[in-house]
Amino acid sequence: MTKYGSYEYIEFVADCYDATYEARSPRDLEFFIDYSRKTGGRTLELGCGTGRVLIPTAAAGCDITGLDFSSYMLSKCRDKLDQQPQEVQQRVRLIQGDMTNFDTGEVYSLITIPFRPFQHLVTVAEQRACLACIHRHLSPKGILVFDVFNPDFRLLIAGPEHGAEQESHPATQLPDGRTFRRTARFAGFHRAEQYNDIELIYYITSSDGKTERLVQAFPMRYFFRYEIEHLLELSSFKVVDLFGDFEKSTFSDDSPEMIFIAEKIG
Ligand SMILES: C[S@@+](CC[C@H](N)C(=O)[O-])C[C@H]1O[C@@H](n2cnc3c(N)ncnc32)[C@H](O)[C@@H]1O
Repeated sequence: MTKYGSYEYIEFVADCYDATYEARSPRDLEFFIDYSRKTGGRTLELGCGTGRVLIPTAAAGCDITGLDFSSYMLSKCRDKLDQQPQEVQQRVRLIQGDMTNFDTGEVYSLITIPFRPFQHLVTVAEQRACLACIHRHLSPKGILVFDVFNPDFRLLIAGPEHGAEQESHPATQLPDGRTFRRTARFAGFHRAEQYNDIELIYYITSSDGKTERLVQAFPMRYFFRYEIEHLLELSSFKVVDLFGDFEKSTFSDDSPEMIFIAEKIG
């Protein structure tokens, strides 16, 4: 998978994912669904996970293929899809695969990578391989839309809190009756290679009151604006818009996100 280890979105992460990121949904869902509607054809979502964006997109009437390398995330997505009406299910195709090396046998008018899966690609070789696959799967003038966070310089260096666990999600009940809370910590800083080691630590309490401490550890790449613009140009894309948030604000110093809208050239 990645040069930096074969981490996966494993079972406990998939179990807690929707409960953790529910609050994010209103912010980015309408944004991505709108692009699927506007581009008209079939959408490919890379790193579709549990279908947080994919299922509402299909429910809004759009045809969409989802690709993800985690069997656990895809299995959650399939379970949720099974609860949807037949016509919604028919608009969806799910594929287990790696976004740096895939061939779905389809061509799309829109490819999206919602909520930062591109930041899991630590090396330039992986990023370019992903963009080359995207280019091959887009129709002429097809559109790529993806978001990465706008790096906050204060968080990219070891500060006094270095290594300490910070609360990142309050105690929440899961559909199966267990509860979890989550903390996060920076476990390492690699400024020369532009990534941090992140640990998301889940405390999961089952009905007998026993609490397990489970850690999802992964490297998180960060990008700067012109780095992505150059990467896109090298990969035969033209940046047509850059937004700083999902309300489409102009990108500025303190924008939380960098959301790239790029058109395939050639
Ligand atoms: C933060 S989640 C985003 C899921 C979904 N797009 C959303 O907005 O909720 C990142 C997803 O990317 C997937 N992922 C990470 N690296 C990947 C790769 N190289 N190929 C395919 N999927 C990948 C993970 O398995 C995970 O489901």
